[in-house]
Amino acid sequence: MNRLEGKVALVTGAGSGFGLGIAETFAREGAKVAIVDINEGAAKAAAEKIGSSAIGLAADVSKAVDVNAAVEKTVAAFGKLDIVVNNAGISHRNRPMLEVEEDEFDRVFAVNVKSIYLFAKAAVPLMQKQGGGAIINVGSTAGLRPRPGLTWYNSTKGAVHTMTKSMAVELAPNKIRVCALAPVAGETPLLATFMGEDTPQKRELFVNSIPLGRFSTPQDIANAALYLASDEASMITGVVLEVDGGRCI
Ligand SMILES: NC(=O)c1ccc[n+]([C@@H]2O[C@H](COP(=O)([O-])OP(=O)(O)OC[C@H]3O[C@@H](n4cnc5c(N)ncnc54)[C@H](O)[C@@H]3O)[C@@H](O)[C@H]2O)c1
Repeated sequence: MNRLEGKVALVTGAGSGFGLGIAETFAREGAKVAIVDINEGAAKAAAEKIGSSAIGLAADVSKAVDVNAAVEKTVAAFGKLDIVVNNAGISHRNRPMLEVEEDEFDRVFAVNVKSIYLFAKAAVPLMQKQGGGAIINVGSTAGLRPRPGLTWYNSTKGAVHTMTKSMAVELAPNKIRVCALAPVAGETPLLATFMGEDTPQKRELFVNSIPLGRFSTPQDIANAALYLASDEASMITGVVLEVDGGRCI
């Protein structure tokens, strides 16, 4: 308990799925949490459920003006910013790579990749002034062991992993740790997009590719994020931690 006592965290895409699990877990462990989501209703509802240690903020993580405002509002509410979890992400539906239109390609890269650049620009100067911080980027096994039909999404996650390592070496002198999580397919609203269609056959196919024999859950991902965000991981930076039931072995 209280592994994040005194910390302030901002979690993107925290109105649903993995991000919601991360925000709830961080709050339970003593952090103040800003729940950032493009879906304002979901962000506010999640914050309300958590209580006075959370605020819900509407923002599109691909837009600099929204990202800057989210960071400013978090600091205004809680006085500082120790942890940023870049979790918001989208995918094109599973289908042949040549069928994905250019605007959809651009959108997936803007939400999954450019957002990390924008949050770095907004939050790193604050962390440098504070003397340290932790950034956790949600990558994917998709960037390590790509499945067909998700080529452009897979590529965004490869970029997320490389950004994580590069940011980690560059920001280490500032005591800012940067790590990534690589979840395997998980029980969230995004799953159907990854599978192309949500049928018992597709689910079986995906589960059979995971040695531990089940999908990941928001709590699995939140447990790993909690460790990486906490001072227990103070010697860990630049890792891409697979939370994947053995999928990438
Ligand atoms: N579910 C999986 O199988 C799986 C596996 C590996 C990695 N991931 C990654 O985990 C992360 C979370 O995915 P999830 O499965 O929880 O999905 P989800 O759809 O349940 O949640 C994503 C949240 O992000 C929000 N969002 C989308 N675009 C946004 C934007 N532009 N600005 C702000 N918020 C935005 C959505 O409103 C939603 O609340 C993503 O980065 C995803 O790529 C998911």
